[in-house]
Amino acid sequence: MPASMTQPDFEQAAALCRGDAEPVEYGIILGSGLSILDELEDRRDTSYRDIPGFPPSTVEGHKGLLSIGRIPGGSRVAIARGRFHLYEGLPAASARYLVSLFAALGSHSVILSNAAGGLRADFTPGDLMLLSDQLNLTFRSSAEAGAVKFGQALYDPSWQAQALAIAGAQGLPVSQGVYVGLLGPSYETAGEIAFLSRFADAVGMSTVLEAQAAASLGLRALGVSCITNVAITTVGLAQTSHAEVMDVAQRASGHLERLLVALCKAS
Ligand code: HPA
Repeated sequence: MPASMTQPDFEQAAALCRGDAEPVEYGIILGSGLSILDELEDRRDTSYRDIPGFPPSTVEGHKGLLSIGRIPGGSRVAIARGRFHLYEGLPAASARYLVSLFAALGSHSVILSNAAGGLRADFTPGDLMLLSDQLNLTFRSSAEAGAVKFGQALYDPSWQAQALAIAGAQGLPVSQGVYVGLLGPSYETAGEIAFLSRFADAVGMSTVLEAQAAASLGLRALGVSCITNVAITTVGLAQTSHAEVMDVAQRASGHLERLLVALCKAS
């Protein structure tokens, strides 16, 4: 970690964000352009800028805001609107910050969402994919050696099954697959997409180190990708841009919101 960065004090950060409100049950990280759960009861927002030790969010489409409140008629949640990416020049340890803050806020369960490129031809932009597993091709780790066990499932299988059942009942376009996390920020070449599609179903630039952090803290995790572009079929036809990713993510946010609201009521 650069000398200028100190590890935040998560208990102090939690006290700042929560005030005297009750603990939260779920921590949710929203990916690029995923703008949901604005309507929380007793919503209380804290800018990352006001949390000592937190870097400001530099990516367009990321607000850099932590919202705490209650889903109407449901659970208390903390929603991170914006996350920290390695491509912003931040150290791998910064991927622990939001997850550690959720834990300090009382949460035992985290939902990690992201915008991702689809590596299967049967995807349609706006589909959701639950992460069954991940390939960490950032070549970094956010967990101490030994904190994540050999072959450990980072994403809770029974929570995935529950999410799939809810999606089926609600008619939401949700499948399961392996997510590969790269360093970014550039999008993949045709050769890279061909290579990655042999091993994974969706590609993005986040989430993998947060899932390691959640596992090392003993938190239950669910990962959800919003497929903003079908990388495998658009090679050579169109260029994926951050603007396009945000546009589709915004339009697909409704599916994600319905899934998460039902899930946070059910589990
Ligand atoms: N590649 C990497 N990250 C992404 C993509 C993609 O095609 N789409 C959204 N995030």
